[in-house]
Amino acid sequence: MHTAPNSIVVLTGAGISAESGIETFRAADGLWANHPVEEVASPQGFKRNPQLVYEFYNQRRRQLMSEEIRPNPAHSALAKFEHDFAGSFLLVTQNIDNLHERAGSENLLHMHGELLKMRCQNSQMVFDISEDFSFDTPCRCCHSPGNLRPHIVWFGEMPMHMNRINEALERCDLFVAIGTSGNVYPAAGFYQTARVNSAQTVELNLDKTGSGFDQHIYGKATEIVPAYFAKLLL
Ligand code: OAD
Repeated sequence: MHTAPNSIVVLTGAGISAESGIETFRAADGLWANHPVEEVASPQGFKRNPQLVYEFYNQRRRQLMSEEIRPNPAHSALAKFEHDFAGSFLLVTQNIDNLHERAGSENLLHMHGELLKMRCQNSQMVFDISEDFSFDTPCRCCHSPGNLRPHIVWFGEMPMHMNRINEALERCDLFVAIGTSGNVYPAAGFYQTARVNSAQTVELNLDKTGSGFDQHIYGKATEIVPAYFAKLLL
């Protein structure tokens, strides 16, 4: 039997934003089906055809900025839980959208980067961006074009904030993964790191993923996430 948790880490993936209208990656009609991942999400692809990569993320950014895309009840439930919960709470997302912050989440780390940021490849300075940008956009620090890239972690690159994430995983007593297929490491191994401290591990997902969590709850994020986190506060 597990007592009420004191320290919680939640990991989210594309499944939590699916009902907000953002495609997941690995569904049959998902992003990677229409855009070869090595072309649009790798340093080699960016070197080969930067224009294609800028355009891919410009399209994603335009979609995110459109009026139809809003946080859904799963994002809101996590933000409400964070505010009501007396213990320690860290939300780690693999998503590059800003729907968690728009719902009101605060203690949030974007481990795969952010669509609304760009980075200078010379200085590593990071800038907010809500419009299109490309090879021709002059950098705000170097003032010359050609240096800006999306602030996104591509395949073969190190995810962001790993020290803080690992510290939190090693001391949490509950780890919950929501809407992620468990295909991409290191995120796919977080539930095993959480077991270092004998944390209970729970998966909330639409489909079975085959990952070895202690508990699995299947359904749509907008239904199962509010229900699960409301119950945790009782
Ligand atoms: P995936 O597309 O691999 O998996 C999404 C998961 O969400 C699947 O297991 C679906 O069953 C589930 N899902 C879909 N709709 C759902 C809903 N309404 N409610 C609950 N679950 C739902 O996406 P991720 O696991 O997030 O990385 O992918 C991980 C990383 O792979 C991404 O961050 C991205 C990608 O390559 C980078 O680009 C670096």
